[in-house]
Amino acid sequence: MIKAMLALGSLLFGGLMVSVGDTRAEEQTSLSAEQGDLVESLLLQMTLAEKVGQLNQAAGGRSKNLNSKLTPEEYDRVRAGGVGSYLHVAGAEPLRELQRIAVEESRLRIPLLFAMDVVHGYRTIFPVPLAIAASWEPEQWETTARISAREAASSGLHWTFAPMVDITRDPRWGRVVEGSGEDPYLGSIMAAAQVHGYQGQDLAAGDTVMATTKHFGAYGAPIGGRDYGSADISQRSLHETYLPPFYAAMAAGTGGYMTAFNDIAGRPTTANADLINGTLRGTWGFDGMIVSDWNAIAELMNHGIARTRSDAGALAISAGIDMDMMSLVYADDLSAAVTRDPALLTHLDNAVRNVLKAKQKLGLFDNPFIYHDAAKEAVTLRAQDHLDAARQVAVRSIVMLKNDNAILPLGGKAKRISVIGSLATDTQSQLGSWRARGDKAEVVSLLDGIKSGAGKGAVVDYAAGIDPDNPNALQEAVELARNSDIIVLVTGEDYDLSGEARSRSDVSLPQEQQILTDAILAVDRPVIVALTGGRPLAISNIAEKADAILMTWFLGNEAGSALADVLFGKSAPGGKLPISFPHTTGQVPYSYSEYPSGRPADPDPTKDTNRYSDLPITPLYPFGHGLSYGDIKISNLVLSAQTVDSSTPLTISVTLINNGKIAGDETVQLYLRDRVASIAQPQKMLRGFKRLSLKPKEKRTVSFTLTSDQLAFYAPDGKWRSEAGAFDAMVGSSAENIVLTSEFELTETVESKVPASAIATKVAVK
Ligand code: NOJ
Repeated sequence: MIKAMLALGSLLFGGLMVSVGDTRAEEQTSLSAEQGDLVESLLLQMTLAEKVGQLNQAAGGRSKNLNSKLTPEEYDRVRAGGVGSYLHVAGAEPLRELQRIAVEESRLRIPLLFAMDVVHGYRTIFPVPLAIAASWEPEQWETTARISAREAASSGLHWTFAPMVDITRDPRWGRVVEGSGEDPYLGSIMAAAQVHGYQGQDLAAGDTVMATTKHFGAYGAPIGGRDYGSADISQRSLHETYLPPFYAAMAAGTGGYMTAFNDIAGRPTTANADLINGTLRGTWGFDGMIVSDWNAIAELMNHGIARTRSDAGALAISAGIDMDMMSLVYADDLSAAVTRDPALLTHLDNAVRNVLKAKQKLGLFDNPFIYHDAAKEAVTLRAQDHLDAARQVAVRSIVMLKNDNAILPLGGKAKRISVIGSLATDTQSQLGSWRARGDKAEVVSLLDGIKSGAGKGAVVDYAAGIDPDNPNALQEAVELARNSDIIVLVTGEDYDLSGEARSRSDVSLPQEQQILTDAILAVDRPVIVALTGGRPLAISNIAEKADAILMTWFLGNEAGSALADVLFGKSAPGGKLPISFPHTTGQVPYSYSEYPSGRPADPDPTKDTNRYSDLPITPLYPFGHGLSYGDIKISNLVLSAQTVDSSTPLTISVTLINNGKIAGDETVQLYLRDRVASIAQPQKMLRGFKRLSLKPKEKRTVSFTLTSDQLAFYAPDGKWRSEAGAFDAMVGSSAENIVLTSEFELTETVESKVPASAIATKVAVK
């Protein structure tokens, strides 16, 4: 039996197989299981042209114009084995036809990989990633990614370019909206949750997609926050701050990585062999697939490290980039490089192996059509439970920055509510950056949400305040505001101000929004601000004058319903900032975890200390800040021991109680500080958090269990080391609101292999 199958196998792999579709797939299942080496067998038969073809990821369209490039010529390219993958394509049926051509009409019948940026939803759109990070609940990310994968896979896709795990401390950078903010520990937890969500238990299950953790390197640290700019950072900050989430994603099983566009100290990551083959594949042991970013291989010439396209291809393939996204350098120019330098063939073969193995893990050799069932697609997209989840995730993402005199929740108090601001009806903005197949017609606007949530007794009126066709718009809005009991002012940025190539030199409100905001804040009525945006905003005037502020980011399909749930008290807000909000743009970049200065910042202006003379020391709203309903107190800090060593973990526990009259949330945060070490240590570093929802009088104890590896820093000799000595344990409700502290001692110096921030603290709740 096995012999017969192997004979059939050689026919099949020789390209002479005539049977097609599912029959062939079944035969191959047994072959791949029994023969075991499908990938090597294919590799042996591939011509050089077919090899570079497998490494070519072609654009099937643009992100806003999917499938637009799938022309008859493109089909011929697939027949000729010239393409390994397409991006910016979608749809169970159109992609079935493309796949059919690959597996029935190309010589080696290798299936194609279909990819897309499914970043915070596919057809059901969830809040933007920075907002989901603000939930401080990895479960919200897992749910979002799981549903996104289910929808995308039903629509013919195998592979998403997510999670985006770039840490950034500079809100000028437009892509801050796509990540989890400033902190490597929070970022690592969120990265792992996304990988689990997208990939599930089994990549071949047909309703999961392969994750691509991006943009490997230090894309979030461009000089001045200008997208694509150079990151001139130290090895220490690379390893301690920027790389941990990438490591956490690998530990969670990410199938792929995408490298960053930019360079670190003059070395573009696309050609950085030390970082890709050295750190990622070597030290860390990653054995999956690595794709370049869009056209980045060709751009090595702009960086000034390659003279020709074929030089650029040689650099990228030697560094460890398996697949070339869209530049066609591998497809058109790599063969010449290999002919010139046959040593490149080993790199080329490794790359082909990685691509074929990814296809194998996705089950595509066994069943290339599993992702192409149009009936399944129709019932999966925007299924009711997906929309329910979108509302839930959106509620959890809202951050209440201010709530004077407990003006929120509104309950039945307000009779005449005026909703002011054109962003209240801007459904496009709620989809944010990367909206896959989201449709603004399917978004519940903030205004509509408020109207349906306000209850029978209330009257909700609206004025745009900003309308290029109406010169009286501002005046009308002020009039309406004056005649209401309460104002909900929707202000901030629209979606187009954050995202790729959307860096800003000034993170205050756009001018027309500022004019409207100032005019409404001057009206003598209570003002609740719903702030939209994809980045931290400098909003001093709002912080001073508004009665309440809800950071609502861009919340996806169910934006309006979620805002109403929080405004009217159906749900408590409880998000926390994943990145500091500055007083002014001049205060950035900023992080709560900077190293201590020899002259620590002191509020006394007569002293010469580490601060701006014209700004407070801390940001407007610090990392970890966010209020809720109820009145939750943190107390009773207990350590399981005064010492810790490499064999005994340490448990730190605290108690939370809601003394208020209504339910509320608190995210208790654990920060550590290594007091004295051979190199200076951050003033605080997050090492644990837990969000709890507590009813009135409800009490819970949260325990964080840490190991000595989590105390390590990246030492100048390139090792992770925890040095013996004293540590502070600080517990609070934000990085600036520490309510309890204690200390413990690490009794021995310990070396480890893992970035300390990438290790998840065990959390238990009783
Ligand atoms: C460029 C972006 O940097 C990357 O994040 C994205 O995945 C690709 N384009 C593909 O759209």
